[in-house]
Amino acid sequence: MSLQSIVIPDSMREIELSQEATQLMDRANEKIERFMLRDQQVIENFVTCDFHLLGQSLLWIEQNHLLAGDRFCELGSGFGVAAMLAAMQDMEAVGIEIEASLVEQSSELADELGIGVDFFQGSFIPRDVNGLLDWGADIEHVDTGEGDVYEEIGLSMDEFDLFFAFPWPGEHEFFESVFDACAADGALLLTYRGREGMNLVRKQAD
Ligand SMILES: C[S@@+](CC[C@H](N)C(=O)[O-])C[C@H]1O[C@@H](n2cnc3c(N)ncnc32)[C@H](O)[C@@H]1O
Repeated sequence: MSLQSIVIPDSMREIELSQEATQLMDRANEKIERFMLRDQQVIENFVTCDFHLLGQSLLWIEQNHLLAGDRFCELGSGFGVAAMLAAMQDMEAVGIEIEASLVEQSSELADELGIGVDFFQGSFIPRDVNGLLDWGADIEHVDTGEGDVYEEIGLSMDEFDLFFAFPWPGEHEFFESVFDACAADGALLLTYRGREGMNLVRKQAD
């Protein structure tokens, strides 16, 4: 792999979030709670990350001028909070989510709050990626069966500058492999690792 690790300092946790960002998180949490209580069919792969830490990390990346450009993609977007926070930072943001009901929820939330972001239903795994079968063998929480949506988006993975994902425990290497195989040199991948917090890598030229 040609991924360079970028250490996010603990001081990042002191960054203050805007009122709009806090409002988004509060509204998302309310909507998620209602959705979970109402939805008959449990979506097993859907859990949410630490939105506050996510907001601080995205601001830290911007404040430290780490971005090569302004295109953002949330891989497995759930309620789409990462994509919406990125849009609030003036990024051109999209979310890709396999579950239609979550795409509906995230689009509704963005409309309600007037945030300009697009959510696409389908897979974030590019269909023509080589080696996927080897990396995907033990992956339980990523759907590897459906077709990707990059054509519908009008952009391929190598046209995004920053990706965010919340992999299930033990599955982050799969996301890094897809990122390494398909993203552009210079692109960043931010992942939430539960108790370990946020992890940031940059793809480098071999
Ligand atoms: C752990 S949740 C994270 C949700 C959101 N990003 C967050 O951090 O709050 C992972 C999401 O990925 C979705 N997912 C799983 N496989 C996918 C795939 N191949 N393409 C797109 N989304 C996928 C699941 O339905 C789930 O909503």
